Amino acid sequence: MRFATIEARAGGARGELVLNRPDKLNALDHQALVELADAARWFDRQPEVKVVVVSGNGSSFSAGADVSGFATEAPPPEQVHARADAGRLMAEAIEAMDAVTVARIHGYCIGGAVVLAAACDLRVAADSAVLSIPEVDLGIPLAWGGIPRLVREIGPAMTRELVLTCRRFSATEARELGLVNRVVPEQQLLDETDELVTQLLQKSALTLAATKRAVRAASEQMLSTTSAWSDADTLMTALSDPESRRSAEAYLRRMGDRA
Ligand code: COA
Repeated sequence: MRFATIEARAGGARGELVLNRPDKLNALDHQALVELADAARWFDRQPEVKVVVVSGNGSSFSAGADVSGFATEAPPPEQVHARADAGRLMAEAIEAMDAVTVARIHGYCIGGAVVLAAACDLRVAADSAVLSIPEVDLGIPLAWGGIPRLVREIGPAMTRELVLTCRRFSATEARELGLVNRVVPEQQLLDETDELVTQLLQKSALTLAATKRAVRAASEQMLSTTSAWSDADTLMTALSDPESRRSAEAYLRRMGDRA
């Protein structure tokens, strides 16, 4: 399936969903979010695919939401809500896929990329991976259904800490928190992920899919992600809050100053 910002391939029972803007550390712009949701639905039309590996081309899994133009460009009024809501729809589409999804995380995994990974069923990370959730510094709440997904995986206290402080955390800490399943040496990330996928591919499609659906239904009962329907609204409100805007400007200045 051809996309501009991602690659989606199905070869037999294994699929690959690859973020493909390596020059921008696979930052997730509006087109990437829409294409990810489209690709998720495309995989559902490939009944032979049991497992899909979600990964990033280049040096990182993904640097999260694309922040270029964040401080300077506003979408046309009729597109504001759709753009603010695209991340939530992406995460929902990934989570709803029939195939079991395995996120393979290396390099940076930031903000919205943590939400994408959290929407996958299993997560394998390189020991060198660096994670953070900098939205609050960027003057916006963590949207895209990120809060219920994080609370579900790591509990409210650590969700508060990571989201409110915006501090970086390692793959090892992410595993201790329950956010990633396995941490492996960077050089072994591909092999270890392949081994996990091979194990999964040996199971029957029916039992994999039934187990995935059962865990999803139980997770939704524990903590539903439906509350995320209004994430786009709080996101849009933050964009017009003066103190939040000052925070965003300071964050983007710090980013620029590193260049
Ligand atoms: N949105 C848009 N472009 C991004 C991006 C993002 N979130 N993250 C990185 N890029 C771009 C950079 O602008 C740069 O592009 P350029 O070469 O055209 O200037 C390129 O990707 C490489 O990034 P760079 O910052 O040079 O890499 P680095 O290794 O020095 O730093 C990070 C990596 C992840 C620490 C840094 O890029 C960063 O902080 N990115 C922003 C993360 C973020 O806030 N995401 C939003 C989460 S909601």
